[in-house]
Amino acid sequence: MQGELESLYQAALAALAAVATSDGLHEWEVMYIGKNGSVTKMLRGVGAVAKEERAAFGKRANEIKEALTNAFAQRDDLVKGQELAQDLEGGDIDVTLPGRARPMGGLHPSTQTLREFYDIWAEMGFQVYRSRDIETDDMNFTLLNMPPDHPARDMQDTFYTTTPNVILRTHTSPGQIRAMHEFGANGSQPIRIILPGMCYRFEQITARSEIQFNQVEGLAVGRNIRMSDLKGTVAEFARKMFGENAKVRFRASYFPFTEPSMEVDVECFLCGGEGCNVCKYSGWLEIAGSGMIHPTVLQNGGYDPNEWSGFAFGMGPERITMLKYGIRDIRYFWSNDLRFLEQF
Ligand code: DAH
Repeated sequence: MQGELESLYQAALAALAAVATSDGLHEWEVMYIGKNGSVTKMLRGVGAVAKEERAAFGKRANEIKEALTNAFAQRDDLVKGQELAQDLEGGDIDVTLPGRARPMGGLHPSTQTLREFYDIWAEMGFQVYRSRDIETDDMNFTLLNMPPDHPARDMQDTFYTTTPNVILRTHTSPGQIRAMHEFGANGSQPIRIILPGMCYRFEQITARSEIQFNQVEGLAVGRNIRMSDLKGTVAEFARKMFGENAKVRFRASYFPFTEPSMEVDVECFLCGGEGCNVCKYSGWLEIAGSGMIHPTVLQNGGYDPNEWSGFAFGMGPERITMLKYGIRDIRYFWSNDLRFLEQF
């Protein structure tokens, strides 16, 4: 047995020295040191060796296996290195060809607008708070002063879930109630936040309306907050977003959760107020709904409306992005068409 082992070792070494290709390397490996290779088999056969020789045989067989494994690794390096050098010289691979460019990802246009919003509102001391997309009917409507059967509910066609009272939020306004409960400390602390996020409405999808869209809600609660604060703050936002000379105007409106309520227009930044097809020749673009928080809503958030007041607003970043870039169809936003997305 011992003699057989030594001659196998010599044969394996000689065969390895003659190997010159990676195929040959593989064959050699299978033949000698692979799972069923002859050296491996010999090692496994140690039980058949006479008892007194067994230890010495086993030791030597292991040494040989290790030596062959090392020799193989060296030969492998050498042969593969030679093959690579040959390939490069042989011209099969043109190493001077330029590499293939990897396409770069980019930020979605809505994300870009949202980040602009965050920066501007952060400068004015508004923190970002994320409220949930899945809401209760109470939060989304009732506590915002829209009890069941209130006609204003009809303006926001709703996605219901199979769980009673659980819906997809139709606007970011329910975050107002959640924020008041979370940060108001039972109506004792002021709040200044924005609430960005997806909203969902069960609507016909058209060029102008999608079933999902982002909103950015704003909320400021404090003592002595007045309508002039709302006007000044929103006007400052418009200047930072649309340019130092941006003019805003406020139109009386109605929302159940604010009193009084106003819609905010910015002078059309495409035609400078002259009138164009984007502003429908009015010279103004609507950018937000807003108002002073309704006393009932303050109360529902845990505040005493005799001591506390506040303002709120809601903006649509997709709408503003559409105005800014002249995008004529809101369906582009979620259709994942790279020809659209790559333009931003
Ligand atoms: N939640 C309203 C909507 O989706 C937008 C809005 C209007 C939000 C006025 C407000 C607000 O906070 O004060 O149509």
